[in-house]
Amino acid sequence: MKRSLLSISELGSDGVQRILDLADTMAEVSRRPNPKVPALRGKTVCSVFFEDSTRTRLSFETAAKRLSADTMTFAVSQSSLSKGESLRDTIETIAAMGVDAFVIRHSSTGAPWLVDGWTKASVVNAGDGWHAHPTQALLDMYTVRTALNRPEGFDGLRVAIVGDIKHSRVARSTTAAFKAMGAHVTWVAPTTLMPPVVDEAVTDRLDDVIGTDGEGVDILYMLRMQNERMTEALVPNLREYTNRFGLTPARAARLAPHTLVMHPGPVNRGVEIAVDLSELPGAVINQQVTNGISVRMAVLYDLLSANPDPTSDIEITEAVAAARTEQP
Ligand code: CP
Repeated sequence: MKRSLLSISELGSDGVQRILDLADTMAEVSRRPNPKVPALRGKTVCSVFFEDSTRTRLSFETAAKRLSADTMTFAVSQSSLSKGESLRDTIETIAAMGVDAFVIRHSSTGAPWLVDGWTKASVVNAGDGWHAHPTQALLDMYTVRTALNRPEGFDGLRVAIVGDIKHSRVARSTTAAFKAMGAHVTWVAPTTLMPPVVDEAVTDRLDDVIGTDGEGVDILYMLRMQNERMTEALVPNLREYTNRFGLTPARAARLAPHTLVMHPGPVNRGVEIAVDLSELPGAVINQQVTNGISVRMAVLYDLLSANPDPTSDIEITEAVAAARTEQP
């Protein structure tokens, strides 16, 4: 039976751990001089993006190619949608060409669930409206796991997610994933950028979570101001926002040495991050992008391979085998 990846909650803690363990194998493949294995030869992965993307679309396509899957890219602006074809007819038409997985991004919450009901192919949610972005959350977990060497989980880790939480599918999925891994999450935002219903610890005082004595949070996760999703002025002006909620040089100087600084990208430079990233030793934003390929390889392999154990498809090197036996 086909499986899809639509949200972190349906994956659960065990599913998150399974993908992160698989990503270790995929990261090892990605480090090879020829980073390609035949694991998904004969499979076809189709990207269907109704919203713009740089990272997610390119890393899914790269991930599929590294696993030897064929790729199709659906260009919304050049499609028969402009002639009035519906989303359902579009998906069913592409599926009839022989597709094993759709990777879909859409501005409407729930669109990937609709697509999942219309096709026998697996569906991966690459971002739906303000709702969910599960593969961003998984690559974030993998980045923390590798940067802090925490393969067993994140018990005791303190995370602050800062900024435009109201409009952020990343905040929702990444919070769910951090909690599944055992971390404690605080949302930091002005009340106008908080969702109406909140289950997390909340504050509008970024300076308190950063602290002054090296005892601040372990992860500072900055969000993009999503101006394109705002229909009204929710902050007085961007300078005021940066003063209260941005990572300024003064705040960067107070970060504990071990604090990781994360951002899903794209960054509004001078707004949520107003400091030169090269001066932030804890910044792992480029690692997030790099890890996105290995994690998306893991997701595609998990959904499309007939073998739950990649060792039958991918020759595991001695280095990876040794790292596995060392893990508790
Ligand atoms: N983080 C993220 O989803 O980036 P893109 O919009 O570039 O895919």
